[in-house]
Amino acid sequence: MAGHNLLRDRRALVTGAGSGIGQAIAHAFAREGASVAVSDVDLDRAQAVADEIGSAGYAFRLDVTDAAETKAVVTAAVERLGGLDLVAANAGISTMNAVVDLTEEEWDANMAVNAKGVFLTNREAVRHFLATGTKGVIVNTASLAAKIGAPFLAHYAASKFAVVGFTQSLAKEVGEHGIRVNAVCPGYVRTSMQERELAWEGKLRGMTPEAVFDEYIATTPLGRIEEPEDVAEIVVFLASDLSGFLTGEAINASGGVLMD
Ligand SMILES: NC(=O)c1ccc[n+]([C@@H]2O[C@H](COP(=O)([O-])OP(=O)(O)OC[C@H]3O[C@@H](n4cnc5c(N)ncnc54)[C@H](O)[C@@H]3O)[C@@H](O)[C@H]2O)c1
Repeated sequence: MAGHNLLRDRRALVTGAGSGIGQAIAHAFAREGASVAVSDVDLDRAQAVADEIGSAGYAFRLDVTDAAETKAVVTAAVERLGGLDLVAANAGISTMNAVVDLTEEEWDANMAVNAKGVFLTNREAVRHFLATGTKGVIVNTASLAAKIGAPFLAHYAASKFAVVGFTQSLAKEVGEHGIRVNAVCPGYVRTSMQERELAWEGKLRGMTPEAVFDEYIATTPLGRIEEPEDVAEIVVFLASDLSGFLTGEAINASGGVLMD
């Protein structure tokens, strides 16, 4: 897709940008004219994506569960990019399990990356925006599971409901400074996370991964699996001035799987 310079001269940080949706967001931001700090807990992946982007891409290792590292990377990204106007807090993980079999480790890990990671990334971004008087923009990656529960995803849904509550609350706090905070809620997106989930869900429901995949498509009114780029285009909209009067929203990006 050709760019429209919707994010011309913006300086962006994307977390979990080494693969899947984050990778697509980083590419879409760069296409729209932003320079992009491509961060991931896996530095090699972040570097590969920054290399794909070219001169507008810069790689950083960032584990979003680590407060000190999050602060350090935001500081480093500001130095490298000459400022920071835009943050996509996208890093996330999932596992699937029935609640009766769910371990504390699974609960804690999902909460740490999906909920606490969003908090830490948003906190550092907002600290920077307020200190510099930047009318910054934040887009958090939530999920359909941020609005409606799903079997075997209780822990994941809890962590993603947290993202929406956090997004709304922060949007109310910082709106008077011209800072916007929104979330995007993807559906069934073709990424490495989906591949893992197809195998888990198939096993838990006594189905083949292929049958689960077909069911995802059958429950999608637009009739196909969602691609990372489908999410990235909506994130570009939320990041750009086109959505200048939108804040505290959690926008479904699911081909119609969820409508509300
Ligand atoms: N794939 C889907 O169907 C789907 C649907 C709804 C929401 N989401 C959400 O979209 C986001 C991206 O998911 P994806 O499908 O692209 O997954 P993915 O596994 O393909 O990519 C996630 C990336 O996050 C990185 N990551 C993991 N833990 C991290 C940490 N602690 N700090 C920094 N980076 C870390 C991984 O290394 C990986 O590069 C997640 O928040 C996920 O919950 C995905």
